[in-house]
Amino acid sequence: MIDMRMDQRCALITGASKGIGYAAATNFMKAGANVAIVARRPDVLEEACATLRREGKGKVVGISGDVSKAADCTRIFATAEKELGKVDVLINNAGTHQNGAFEDATDEIWQADLDLKLFAAIRLSRAALPGMKARKWGRIVNVLNSGAKWQRHGSAPTSISRAAGMALTKVLSNEGAAHNVLVNAVLVGLIQTDQWVRGHAKENKGCTLEEYLAEMAQRIPLNRVGTAEEFANMILFLSSDAGSYVTGTAINVDGGMCPVV
Ligand SMILES: NC(=O)c1ccc[n+]([C@@H]2O[C@H](COP(=O)([O-])OP(=O)(O)OC[C@H]3O[C@@H](n4cnc5c(N)ncnc54)[C@H](OP(=O)(O)O)[C@@H]3O)[C@@H](O)[C@H]2O)c1
Repeated sequence: MIDMRMDQRCALITGASKGIGYAAATNFMKAGANVAIVARRPDVLEEACATLRREGKGKVVGISGDVSKAADCTRIFATAEKELGKVDVLINNAGTHQNGAFEDATDEIWQADLDLKLFAAIRLSRAALPGMKARKWGRIVNVLNSGAKWQRHGSAPTSISRAAGMALTKVLSNEGAAHNVLVNAVLVGLIQTDQWVRGHAKENKGCTLEEYLAEMAQRIPLNRVGTAEEFANMILFLSSDAGSYVTGTAINVDGGMCPVV
């Protein structure tokens, strides 16, 4: 029987008041872990903490901060370590949609994308690695998107930040392996979260959200957009002892959408 219990484990999850991060935190709570969740808006974060506390007996800590800022990353990690006692599992998940024509992306847009999607993972992993190595147990999961492998037209800067995230995953997995610190990436295709509620409102195509998602689903071999829970199941697997022989890989959880294996 597969064992994905996380009793006594402490997980720090960024971008976790909503969507995929919140679903991951829910899984960790149900599996017996203690969690620290990060997001910028304190009110939404507190609401998420209150709901999560009903999912399990573990401790839930909400840390308000912006992971695209170096000083916030330092404070976030220190707070998580202080409140939970240790960080065994780091889920680098915070991010947002940022695509467009290459020539329209200014230096500021590039820098903001790299700060949020690459440097946040670098800074938090650098903070987490020493403790994980010393305890001879650690997991880092980087949530990326299919652009990491499949750089489509109009996908800058995201696909470049994500491809760098995949390289970071491999480098960290090499450095962590001798210490039983396993590092993997999970690649999103289209998962139904607030990201698409915002996209639907912004694009204002005159269709319902359901019609908007159904149109997107036509690009997916499984013919539907995935749920945050389906995606979070892979995060839990990789974070638990069940995933003890998996490191240095990037797994598509996208209903078959990415043409690259
Ligand atoms: N859903 C998809 O189909 C899809 C597709 C491609 C990639 N992804 C990637 O998957 C990850 C999760 O996406 P999602 O769809 O679950 O997003 P979501 O539903 O929009 O939730 C994003 C979460 O991250 C937090 N967040 C955003 N920016 C942050 C920052 N700078 N610092 C700290 N927290 C921040 C948000 O809270 P606050 O706003 O309060 O900070 C929220 O809790 C992201 O990296 C996203 O780019 C998702």
